[in-house]
Amino acid sequence: MLQSPVTLNMLNVMQRKERTMNAVIHHVRETGSTNELCTQAGKNGAPSWTVYTADCQTAGRGRLGRSWSSPAGTGLWFSVLLRPDLPASSAGLIPLAAALAVADGILTLTGLRCGIKWPNDVIVNRKKVCGILCESRFSGEALDFVTVGIGLNLYRGAYPAELNERATSLEECLSAVPGRESLLDGILASLESGIGLLEGKRERELLERYEKQCVTVGSRIRVSGGMEMTGIAEGIGAEGSLLVRSEDGTLRAVACGDVSVRGVMGYV
Ligand code: BTN
Repeated sequence: MLQSPVTLNMLNVMQRKERTMNAVIHHVRETGSTNELCTQAGKNGAPSWTVYTADCQTAGRGRLGRSWSSPAGTGLWFSVLLRPDLPASSAGLIPLAAALAVADGILTLTGLRCGIKWPNDVIVNRKKVCGILCESRFSGEALDFVTVGIGLNLYRGAYPAELNERATSLEECLSAVPGRESLLDGILASLESGIGLLEGKRERELLERYEKQCVTVGSRIRVSGGMEMTGIAEGIGAEGSLLVRSEDGTLRAVACGDVSVRGVMGYV
């Protein structure tokens, strides 16, 4: 059930965003998952740039069927419904555009430069500060809508202590953590420009920018899940896949669907 804004002054964000992409922002105090709210809204015909934010999620969803810790007031937990004018084959580029939007939004607002671990983990000091779960829905051959779910750790309490080695928060990287409204505003603005590049058939531009920030490219990595291999990540393919040179010298395209990619020496 929708509740009125409590700790977030979403009106500020809404007023600014309405001038650009007509974002409609719904804020709830607590929900299972903002991705779930957003996807339901998508199924019910809600327009592009419908956004759900929550102070707290009780069943936050992560990639590869994992859960996502989302305690109240510790992070920016939100999902954006997009109906981009793109072929279904471009759906794999949206997670990359989303990661770039988060990294750009943080950089613009705070000066903090983040890396991206393919496909869409946002990294600072080799630790994950933000996770992204994109869930696409197709109608026949066409892309109907995508729910872009973003979980940005603002404070230490956002993630469980056992993830100390692999997770971090803006609090641990900055002297002052920006407000959630400003972060949401900045990320939505960057996401709008990334999606604009894709819709304008300028995906090469987006991918070049992505590759520059991607810490996976150039690293020796291990792929597990859908396929098992180790090799050197050489670049990003046209549809967002990771191009990996395996031990036997063949170049393979790894799609982000259900594989996990780790550095051979650790998480990144
Ligand atoms: C990951 O595994 O790295 C992806 C995590 C995505 C978490 C965000 S929080 C907001 C949105 N709602 C969810 O249930 N998940 C995403």
